[in-house]
Amino acid sequence: MSGVSVVDIIYNSDCMTGMRKLPDDCIDLIVTDPPYIMESRGCGFIRNRNVTALSEIQDAGLADGFDTAVFSEFMRLMERPNIYIWCAARQIPVCIDFFVNENGCKFDIIIWQKTNPMPLFSGKWLTDKEYCLYFRKGGYCNPVTFDDARTVFTQPVNAKDKNIYNHPTIKPLNIIETLIKNSSREGDVVLDPFMGSGTTALAAAKNNRRYIGFEINETYCKTATERVNDYKRRFLT
Ligand SMILES: C[S@@+](CC[C@H](N)C(=O)[O-])C[C@H]1O[C@@H](n2cnc3c(N)ncnc32)[C@H](O)[C@@H]1O
Repeated sequence: MSGVSVVDIIYNSDCMTGMRKLPDDCIDLIVTDPPYIMESRGCGFIRNRNVTALSEIQDAGLADGFDTAVFSEFMRLMERPNIYIWCAARQIPVCIDFFVNENGCKFDIIIWQKTNPMPLFSGKWLTDKEYCLYFRKGGYCNPVTFDDARTVFTQPVNAKDKNIYNHPTIKPLNIIETLIKNSSREGDVVLDPFMGSGTTALAAAKNNRRYIGFEINETYCKTATERVNDYKRRFLT
């Protein structure tokens, strides 16, 4: 890591504002899960009063996407771009355009195949997978075992963590830990500009990486901070 004096903090801030305060080339890895674009019809998002999980996501303001101007900041913050971005299918083209076509990154696609998807398939395929795009240009990627190198994770949505941390789109901790272990070294600084319930920060702390996070929602930011602090109190003191 290079040049950041204040790490291991999740700031309650808009990420663009926060990232602009960080120096060039100070981040070793970005793992992030920005708000997806979900539609009320077509493309897999059907409002149905029996399907509360879907309306929860929309009510939390997490179905309208994000400002892709953040991508330029990602590039400025990394000497060797090394970036995992979760996104909806319709956000894939804009990501490929920026990172691959305009900035010459290599890319890969990691899939989380959900074994317990919502049973919505009226006139459409199931929404039973999530995409995580990996972009790198000189970035570190070194899985140690055959299993760690797999690009498909097949497992259920973890309803328990979702309820404990009260975040509608919490990601599985084990998947985020695998991304971090495969693409960073101990002591590296991992940034998540859309921190949510703190999954990236916890995965970083558990694996002896440093982290910086931004989360615009005060309640989620508090949850994320308490989640990591609770882990540190129990296991690192
Ligand atoms: C999809 S969720 C991330 C969930 C996270 N991966 C987890 O496991 O809990 C995206 C998060 O980004 C936050 N967010 C949205 N716009 C933001 C912005 N401009 N700056 C910082 N955070 C933002 C939302 O409040 C939301 O918690």
